[in-house]
Amino acid sequence: MDKILILDFGSQTTQLIGRRIRDLGVYTEIIPGDTVLDDAVLSGVADSTLRGIILSGSPESVYTAEGAVPDRKVYSLGLPLLGICYGLQRMTVDNGGVVEPLPKREYGRIGVTIKAPDDENSPSKPSGIRRSFLAGFDKNIRLDTIVEGTSVSNTAQSGTSSLSFTAWMSHGDTLTKLAPGFREYGVSDTGYPAVAANEEKFWFGLQFHPEVTHTERGLEILAAFVFGVCGCKKSWTMEQYVEEIRTSLAARVGSNPVLLLISGGVDSTVAGALLLKTLDPGKVHLMYMDTGLMRKDETKTVKTALEQLGAKHLHIIYCEEEFLGALKGLSEPEAKRKAIGDLFITIQEREVARLGLPDSYFLAQGTLYTDLIESGKGVGKKAHLIKSHHNVGSPLVDAKRKLGRIIEPLDRLYKDEVRRLGRILGIDEEVVRRHPFPGPGLAVRILGEVTKEKCGILREADAIFIEELKTRRARSIAREGSYKQNVSLYDEIWQAFAVLLPIRSVGVAGDARKYGWVLALRAITSADGMTADVYPFPVEDLLEISTRITNTVSDIGRVTYDISSKPPATIEWE
Ligand code: XMP
Repeated sequence: MDKILILDFGSQTTQLIGRRIRDLGVYTEIIPGDTVLDDAVLSGVADSTLRGIILSGSPESVYTAEGAVPDRKVYSLGLPLLGICYGLQRMTVDNGGVVEPLPKREYGRIGVTIKAPDDENSPSKPSGIRRSFLAGFDKNIRLDTIVEGTSVSNTAQSGTSSLSFTAWMSHGDTLTKLAPGFREYGVSDTGYPAVAANEEKFWFGLQFHPEVTHTERGLEILAAFVFGVCGCKKSWTMEQYVEEIRTSLAARVGSNPVLLLISGGVDSTVAGALLLKTLDPGKVHLMYMDTGLMRKDETKTVKTALEQLGAKHLHIIYCEEEFLGALKGLSEPEAKRKAIGDLFITIQEREVARLGLPDSYFLAQGTLYTDLIESGKGVGKKAHLIKSHHNVGSPLVDAKRKLGRIIEPLDRLYKDEVRRLGRILGIDEEVVRRHPFPGPGLAVRILGEVTKEKCGILREADAIFIEELKTRRARSIAREGSYKQNVSLYDEIWQAFAVLLPIRSVGVAGDARKYGWVLALRAITSADGMTADVYPFPVEDLLEISTRITNTVSDIGRVTYDISSKPPATIEWE
């Protein structure tokens, strides 16, 4: 399978580069920008599956100590390179050019003009695939045929001798002298080099970010590099992934049993489905803990979904009393998280022992590519830990990992790919489209002490909110760059939930004064949970949803909408 390697120098949008290219049907891997390029990292060079390398952007400058430097080997592999922002500056400085600070940082949308590739002044007329890249992107590449679900079509004009478009930039430095062998092919409206290339070496550099939707033609530019310059074939599909997993699991697991710990979320449910479809279901044990801190009907939905997929050994552990007991009297967020994490481990060990599986069993987890990044376990050195995910590390997991008996069949996938895979495997749509849910569940959405009564109130209010989002169309939000139409609010929003505040406020019920709990609604858009924007609801939606909640859940007297983005807030309240 063809692959593009991305050297991550710490840009906020490095992940987006990887995802955009995968959406084009080509597999990508991200590694820290200064990784030593040894034989293991370059395993795809020998068999020509590694077809090109992208050098990402960075918040740093190339001339400071903080600016990471790639292994020089990257410049002698003979592979096509694409430098994006810092990546272009890195290629320039590392090869004899000069980069200097701009008098004023450039940020936002800036026009770019690509010079005619067949410009008579060109010392060496580019031809073929290089020309197609510089021409602004191969006219033969029809985006709607290669990007699933996209109705955007390629609008490149045949015979255009130069091309202008709007690009997204964010840089404080600029190229002041190109490296030998490089030529400027594009310039920004502000007069700085925007595209440079060393055609002989198949090295291209962009001062702007093609991976960001604000860059017109950005996807075409990436497609032109990946298909036109690198010659990749479209071979990254979920169907092929299932086949690969089937072969690799069969070789690793043999006839040993596999135990998967299911949380009820999309990831572990898809991991369960994948195991059931690729291994003998008689060997697959699925364990799920109902902590009493789940969303409404969550256990029932997960159970039905897994049984429909052919689960034979589904172990549901009902432990609500134990969890509520452990949380009694605790109101500090960290103390609550710790109590829950510790109890998870205790119950997990107890119940796994009770199953009596042979020592040779494998432990499976629904870890995603982004979980590995968030927990700092491998990819994306600069990315930071958001929350301590209890499901990535526990003594049981650590012990199995030491023995080489951990299976993480989703660890090369992004969340949206997991959803696609879930659909292919036949998982119920209600489960596949579910918003993320934190491991500690409702406990971090009930501020202060958690009680059974509060769990009940929040569960009902949250279910109403979610049901309303599923039935309402996204009516007045014509977001830039959005080509989705007629989607529900639920599908347009990345994560939505209700939070029960530890406050009661005055209200009226009939003629009487009444104290009711205050509920906060949270709805955000996000790419991966690392940053988040508030969903800009039309006010009628909020008014109607609030009315239905207070009419139905009598303990709630007041509803508010959380209008904080992340940062500075986090998505969850605790
Ligand atoms: P924050 O609140 O850190 O959340 O902005 C980012 C994303 O992570 C989810 N989250 C968790 N997921 N265990 C999890 O598996 C946790 O302890 C946890 N805490 C937060 C949160 O719902 C959001 O999607």
